[in-house]
Amino acid sequence: MRKKVIAGNWKMNKTLAEANAFIDEVVKKAPTSDDVETIVCAPFPFLASLTEKTKGTTVHIGAQNMYFEDSGAFTGEVSPVMLSDLGVTYVVIGHSERREHFAETDESVNKKTHAAFNHKLTPIVCVGETLEQREANETMTHVEGQVKKALDGLSNEQVADTIIAYEPIWAIGTGKTATSDEANEVCSHIRKVISAITSEEIAEKVVIQYGGSVKPANIDELLAKSDIDGALVGGASVEAESYLQLVEAGTK
Ligand code: 13P
Repeated sequence: MRKKVIAGNWKMNKTLAEANAFIDEVVKKAPTSDDVETIVCAPFPFLASLTEKTKGTTVHIGAQNMYFEDSGAFTGEVSPVMLSDLGVTYVVIGHSERREHFAETDESVNKKTHAAFNHKLTPIVCVGETLEQREANETMTHVEGQVKKALDGLSNEQVADTIIAYEPIWAIGTGKTATSDEANEVCSHIRKVISAITSEEIAEKVVIQYGGSVKPANIDELLAKSDIDGALVGGASVEAESYLQLVEAGTK
């Protein structure tokens, strides 16, 4: 059985003091069950402190982005080497907000996914359609294209270790969750696409998360679905109490 993976994505929120207080509370109360992987994806300035505080615990720290080069003249960028060195173990790649506001492309997502594996970071690759694409019946072809381009050139073992986060753009921060059936339909399709490019055995290992207005009130129904193995959560992950409820849901 695939493990449930619950990742909070704080986006551009919190001060260092707030980040530290959150993690102290989560480290104290997070479930120790092996059934759930607990991940907090925080802004770059907080990562050193958070990895220090979570050392030897069941809480894992992720970054929300990175550049694909190891080092060099790339002012303002953060490399996978730096993240790995801090003890960061996950990195969100290709979030729709980065695709929309920071010119992230399928090509850069692919380079970053390779770079993550080169430095022992697990990539959480985000895919998802706009409302216009959903209404034009283009969801499956769009998501399929994003998944194929992101995974291009990876070994089967690397594909098996990749986390895919299906986040329909129209459901992010809007309070509009995809129904659990709608979400599962796309997650199942993603698994079929991965099966076609690797094998059924590999595809069965891939963790596929849903993201988009996930909250304590709707997570159980989403996680009960056959192909939804976890959640990537924005708004409801910012407060420790709500985040802990989400992680707890992953243990059921
Ligand atoms: P919300 O949970 O705030 O809708 O954000 C989802 C998201 O973008 C997580 O990466």
